[in-house]
Amino acid sequence: MKLLQIIYHSQSGASAQMARAAWQGAKAEQVVATRVMRVWDAGTSDLVQADAVLLVAAENSGALSGGMKDFLDRTFYPAINRGLVLPYALIISAGNDGRGAVRQAQRILSGYPFPPVAEPLILRGEVSCEHLKQSSQMGQAFAAGLEMGIY
Ligand SMILES: Cc1cc2nc3c(=O)[nH]c(=O)nc-3n(C[C@H](O)[C@H](O)[C@H](O)COP(=O)(O)O)c2cc1C
Repeated sequence: MKLLQIIYHSQSGASAQMARAAWQGAKAEQVVATRVMRVWDAGTSDLVQADAVLLVAAENSGALSGGMKDFLDRTFYPAINRGLVLPYALIISAGNDGRGAVRQAQRILSGYPFPPVAEPLILRGEVSCEHLKQSSQMGQAFAAGLEMGIY
């Protein structure tokens, strides 16, 4: 069974809600296993076990949140050394922008190199039902593509 690993960083809970919604959407695709983890609990071994990764984090000070940056910094060389190439998707929670976080994440992930499976999803403002719906849809679409062997 293929594994979709969802890894998130959240300070005030917004990205955590989006990660949970993505997880619930992905679970609809029962042929794919889905696991959701905080960045602080995740490491290279979790990437090694995965077939794909969905990253969920906030924009902080025009950049990717520090927790997610720390995760990527910790796993960068170990992933390269293992030749890991995982398809990825990205959800960014932001107050009113989010583009700085997306740019930084894309730049870092292109170095692994991990290929994107979709345009990054930027969700601005307070968490809403629409945000959770879009997160769920992204999780489900990613899992469905994984199941079909598209990536
Ligand atoms: C220290 C800090 C810096 C932030 N900087 C930005 C920013 O540069 N651009 C933006 O759109 N939102 C910014 N925000 C707002 C957060 O991105 C937004 O509240 C997000 O939903 C928080 O997600 P989280 O609860 O998962 O951490 C900032 C929030 C904090 C606490």
